[in-house]
Amino acid sequence: MTVQTGWTAPARLEVIVGSVREGRFGPVVADWFVRQASGRADLDVGMLDLAEDPPGFAGRIDAADAVVVVTPEYNHSYPGPLKHAIDEVGKEWRAKAVGFVSYGGLAGGLRAVEPLRVVFAELHAVTVRETVSFYMAHQSFDADGEPVDTHGPAAAATALLDQLVWWARALRSARAHQPYGT
Ligand SMILES: Cc1cc2nc3c(=O)[nH]c(=O)nc-3n(C[C@H](O)[C@H](O)[C@H](O)COP(=O)(O)O)c2cc1C
Repeated sequence: MTVQTGWTAPARLEVIVGSVREGRFGPVVADWFVRQASGRADLDVGMLDLAEDPPGFAGRIDAADAVVVVTPEYNHSYPGPLKHAIDEVGKEWRAKAVGFVSYGGLAGGLRAVEPLRVVFAELHAVTVRETVSFYMAHQSFDADGEPVDTHGPAAAATALLDQLVWWARALRSARAHQPYGT
């Protein structure tokens, strides 16, 4: 067995399901994204569903190299329970790579993503530029939970994950070399 160390070791990714309301669409989007990420050898993937009040949330963030937040857009921002969960965790966010998968109406949830970038900057996390965004989300998936567009979302997920893995590895190396400061 080859033990992978250093740069090439799979990065630990936690995917956060950011909507908790009854009848939510979030798990359709999150499950699809986890399937995309789980197919990669450079990632070890877990899911944190905020509706289940996941035990050990802070510890899981601490052990992660990267986090992807799957968020809907509510009134031009992101859900309140997601902010609560983010705020429950402190230094565990520092020097971690964070990406976003958003969904909503015509704006594809992007008005939820931009304010989240400001929050994560305050937490010393590094957000990656590429996003996956579903506009008119309910119509964008078929009954099996697969995107109706069989190319665009998968390509966007690959672009996001490629960038996220680079940052996750870079930050993991840096943290190992020198614990993140103040
Ligand atoms: C309280 C509420 C506010 C919403 N506000 C917006 C909005 O400002 N812009 C938008 O594009 N969609 C908005 N939507 C539509 C949601 O983004 C869409 O229904 C999405 O599927 C909600 O995610 P969820 O089902 O996982 O909770 C809103 C939905 C809810 C429930």
